[in-house]
Amino acid sequence: MQDLITSYKGRILEAKNLPAMPDAVQEISRLMERGDCSTDMVASVIERDQSLAAKVLKMVNSPVYGFPGRITNIKNALVLLGINVIKGLMVTATVFDTFNKRMVELWKHSVACSVASVEVARAAGFKQPEEYAVFGLLHDLGKVVFAMQIPEARQQVDDLVKRNDVLFRDAEKQILGFGHDKINAWICEHWNLPLMLKEAMVHHHDPMMAQFHPESAAVVHLADFMARLFECGSGGDDNVSLLDPRALRLVNLNHAKFKDILTELCDIYADSSNLSIT
Ligand SMILES: [Fe+2]
Ligand SMILES: [Fe+2]
Repeated sequence: MQDLITSYKGRILEAKNLPAMPDAVQEISRLMERGDCSTDMVASVIERDQSLAAKVLKMVNSPVYGFPGRITNIKNALVLLGINVIKGLMVTATVFDTFNKRMVELWKHSVACSVASVEVARAAGFKQPEEYAVFGLLHDLGKVVFAMQIPEARQQVDDLVKRNDVLFRDAEKQILGFGHDKINAWICEHWNLPLMLKEAMVHHHDPMMAQFHPESAAVVHLADFMARLFECGSGGDDNVSLLDPRALRLVNLNHAKFKDILTELCDIYADSSNLSIT
């Protein structure tokens, strides 16, 4: 099995089929590491890549971020939403085409999870709840990369899910020896994505295992559960994923608050304009 896992990992990371991260993403990471980057500097790096800048602007103007149609330029977006949100959206813009064309239902599920992540983070009293939207959008990215890179194994997983009515992640483990959460870890390392995003993506099924940002993983864990509960899109199977009740404690939510979020989401999901991100 170990040999098989190693060969699958190699195929997952075969760069020729993976979308390349735009230079602007790497450049911003370098600027941030140096610690002396101004909003103007970051904005000019993004604006050099006009098509990327346009995609990011479109996304920040969706209702998810709280300023629908009101953000007119990248600098404004950076000031209002912060560099981490914008960087996450640059990653999202890069993978979006692959995502949307191939897997419409998974994209819907991801947007629903994104919207729920913001609501959970807001109810938990986190400083910048919009930051969590990108975590929700990208939490199942490993499933897309899996389908792109090893289509025949993906077919086997789909068949197993249909035949035995098992959770998608359990089927992945049976066929591949690992789940999309592990694939997320490899992608995050490959693209050098920020740690908080990485932990949310890698540990959205087991938030207690996150070493540095368990609260981010818990937000996405709860949001994923909610998106599935409302059957918004599909994560690959028809089951509601298991909810780890400890995730509620990680973000200081009690059952009453949890129910309030569900009521709120019921209204949000009912209006489809709230679910259009691009
Ligand atoms: Fe997942
Ligand atoms: Fe999911």
